[in-house]
Formats: sequence, C-alpha cells, structure tokens
Amino acid sequence: MSEIYSSKILNISKSERETEDFAFGLARSGQIKTGDIIALYGDLGAGKTAFTRGLVRFFSPESRVASPTFSLVNQYKNIFHFDMYRINSEEDLLSIGFYDYLDNLYNKIIIIEWFDIIKDFFDENTINIEIIKLNFDERKIIFERLLK
Ligand SMILES: Nc1ncnc2c1ncn2[C@@H]1O[C@H](COP(=O)(O)OP(=O)(O)O)[C@@H](O)[C@H]1O
Ligand SMILES: [Mg+2]
Repeated sequence: MSEIYSSKILNISKSERETEDFAFGLARSGQIKTGDIIALYGDLGAGKTAFTRGLVRFFSPESRVASPTFSLVNQYKNIFHFDMYRINSEEDLLSIGFYDYLDNLYNKIIIIEWFDIIKDFFDENTINIEIIKLNFDERKIIFERLLK
C-alpha cells in the first residue's frame, strides 16, 4: 500500500528548549490541534517528554509536565499524555482502559510515548513525530501527518 503524506517537517534542535519550542510552534501554527493523536518515536532520552512539554505549554500553560513512565498516563486539561514503556500486551492496554480515552477524541489531544510498542493494537490515524539523537544535545525531529 502506498503512503501519502499531507505534510512533513524536519527540524534540527540544539537544546531541550528548542525541542519544546518546535512543538509549541507546531501547535501555534495549527499543525497539531485538538482531535490529534501524536505518536512519539525515539530512544530513551531523545526528548519525547520535552516535546510534550512544548505542546502542553501551548494548550495548557498552567500545567507542569511530569514523565508518565510510572503512572502510564497524565492528564493536563484535555491533553492525555501516555508512556507505553511498560506495556507488554494488548491486555495491558485494556487494563489501563486505554481505548476509553479515545472516546470524544475531537476535543482531546492524545500524546503517546513509545508508540511503537502499541502500534499493532491500534488503528487510528496518527501524527508521527520521530526524534533522533545526533549527539549530546542535537536532535533531528521529523513531523509527519499521514493520510491513510
Ligand atoms: N535538543 C534536545 N532536545 C531535547 N532534549 C535534549 C536535547 N538536548 C539535550 N536534551 C536532554 O535530553 C533529555 C531528554 O529527556 P526526555 O525529554 O525525558 O526524553 P524521553 O522522554 O524521550 O526519554 C533531557 O535530559 C534533555 O535535557
Ligand atoms: Mg519520556
């Protein structure tokens, strides 16, 4: 099957703050909006949580982002921030009620760290963000909105 991208944006970030600002800018320019599911790809320490912080700064500026690694999901107003690092099966996903969070998606934003872990259990359209470590503080960030 061929894949058609409606948009693809590349960014080089040279600091945590620049990664946050890139995410903030995507939200401010309407490239990321309510109703979106954001799939974050990248190794530990790539900057997935930093990227999330930039989105939350736009959509819920009064909130402070913490990593949801142990809680699995944190909520900031209408933003639901998942970390799937500890998910091993579709049963695990069901046990955290994951699919219920997708109800009324049109007025939410769902952000998912370690999306690759749940990819096979998921059939919604996503915005894909891949963060690649180039060196200690440099990251390549690839934004893709895919039309299936
Ligand atoms: N350009 C950059 N973008 C994002 N984080 C960076 C960058 N350069 C260095 N860092 C550091 O990398 C780490 C990223 O952490 P975090 O956002 O929690 O990653 P992840 O959620 O992908 O595991 C932080 O310690 C941050 O200071
Ligand atoms: Mg993280």
